[in-house]
Amino acid sequence: MKDMVLKDSALIDVRSVSKEYDTSDGPVLAVKPTSLRLMEGEFVSIVGPSGCGKTTLLKMMGGLIPITSGEIMLRETTVKGPSDDIGFVFQGSVLLPWKSSQENVLLPIRVARRTTKEDIQRARELLHLVGLENFEHRYPFELSGGMQQRVSICRALIQDPSCLLMDEPFGALDALTRENMNVFFNGLWRQTGKTVALVTHSIQEAVFLSNRVIVMSQRPGTVLDEIEIPFPAERTPDLIGTKEFGELTSRIRKYFSAAHLD
Ligand SMILES: Nc1ncnc2c1ncn2[C@@H]1O[C@H](COP(=O)(O)OP(=O)(O)OP(=O)(O)O)[C@@H](O)[C@H]1O
Ligand SMILES: [Mg+2]
Repeated sequence: MKDMVLKDSALIDVRSVSKEYDTSDGPVLAVKPTSLRLMEGEFVSIVGPSGCGKTTLLKMMGGLIPITSGEIMLRETTVKGPSDDIGFVFQGSVLLPWKSSQENVLLPIRVARRTTKEDIQRARELLHLVGLENFEHRYPFELSGGMQQRVSICRALIQDPSCLLMDEPFGALDALTRENMNVFFNGLWRQTGKTVALVTHSIQEAVFLSNRVIVMSQRPGTVLDEIEIPFPAERTPDLIGTKEFGELTSRIRKYFSAAHLD
C-alpha cells in the first residue's frame, strides 16, 4: 500500500477559470472565475446547490469542454483536451449492455487500439481488486447497481490515470449500497494512491471520503469555502456517528441554508 502522505505539488491547477455557455436565450455564465488545486494523491469533494456549475467545472478540469477564461494545468502542461492521465466516472454508470464486464472495462483501450494479453490481464486484476473476480463474463443486466458502478470505476482505471474525476457516481444507489460503496471506495483510493475529485450532493459522503471539501456558491458558481477534513486516511462507518464528523457536516450544511441561497 502506498503511503498516504500527500505530495506538495498540484496535479491539477485551476487558475481563474470561468465558463459561459452560449444558449438560444443568450450567454449563460455557469462558473465565474474560480481557482482551486488538486494536490497529488488528494481526495477532494465538490458540493454546491443544483445547477451551480459542478459538472461544468469537472468537465473543464478533464478537458472535456473548452474554458471561457483562465487556465487549467495538468502538472506542467496546459489542459487543451482530454488526457489518458484522467479517468472519468459519471452518474448512473453507462455500461454497454451487450458487452461483458471485462469488455466494458477494456472499452477505452479498444477505441484506441487492439487489446493485448496484458490489457486483458489488467482488466482481470482491476475486477479482482473491486471484488468482481467471478463476474468478468457477466453482462450489466446480471449485476446489481453497485456492481455496475464498480465496473465503471475499473473502466476509468484501465489506462492507469493519475487522477479520477467522478460526477455523482453513487447517486443512483440505495442508501445502504451507497454507504458500502463509500467504505469500499475509501479502500480503493488508499490502495491505488489516485488523486480524486468527486462531485456529490451528499455532504456525508463528501466528509466521509475526502481530505478536503470544496463548497461552491449558487450559479454562477465559484469556491465559497474549503474545509479540511482532518481524519486519518482509513475511514470506517463508525466515524459517521462521531461528534467531529457531525460538526464538519453541519458546518458545510449551513452553506445550503436559505441565507446562502438568496
Ligand atoms: N451544454 C450546456 N449549454 C448551456 N447551458 C448549460 C450547459 N450545461 C450546463 N449548462 C448550464 O450551466 C449551469 C451549470 O450547470 P451544471 O450542470 O454544471 O450544474 P451542476 O452544479 O452540475 O448541477 P447539478 O447539481 O444539478 O448536477 C446550469 O445553469 C445549466 O443550465
Ligand atoms: Mg451536475
